[in-house]
Amino acid sequence: MTHSPTPRFKTTPFSRRRRHLIRYLAGGGLGAIALGLVHPETAASREPDLEYLCSMFPQNSRCADYLPGAQAVDETGQPIAVDALLPTTIPGQPVPVGGLPDDQTTYLVIQSGPAIAPYGIRPICTHMGCTVDWRAEQNRFVCPCHGSQFDGEGRVLAGPANEPLPLATVVTRQNRIGLVDRAPSVDPR
Ligand code: FES
Repeated sequence: MTHSPTPRFKTTPFSRRRRHLIRYLAGGGLGAIALGLVHPETAASREPDLEYLCSMFPQNSRCADYLPGAQAVDETGQPIAVDALLPTTIPGQPVPVGGLPDDQTTYLVIQSGPAIAPYGIRPICTHMGCTVDWRAEQNRFVCPCHGSQFDGEGRVLAGPANEPLPLATVVTRQNRIGLVDRAPSVDPR
């Protein structure tokens, strides 16, 4: 079987990105207003509200000091510091981390800079649920069950899977990395 590898980091047309950004910002503002109306702030309600708000709209001003989700950890279980991790990364090469309650790896997406993308890859094949492996030498995720392949951001390169890999939300705050097992409000792919 031959494949024509698609570009790994397909750029989104600027107008589409701008529409996404506007929707994203509008969603953050409306989400904050809605939460404020539905839940007048009390000490008891603040934490769950912030968890939801800051995982869905991490750029909201109320989230400046709040890290939602579970903290990303390395293979020894130690929390990962952003300033220690980034110098070891290569843009385009996903970095496996732990931390989510299901104990499954999440792959941080490393963008140019280098910088950590606000989303990570959950390595769960969308064909029948096998765990895909990152093959650095092939620059792609490969499913061991029936051979589906995905690029570094989880887009399908080869079937039988026909949906991209699921995403988690990734938030960086104060040198820490938070993982939320929920797709970001806008899928960047
Ligand atoms: S489960 Fe991955 S290709 Fe079938």
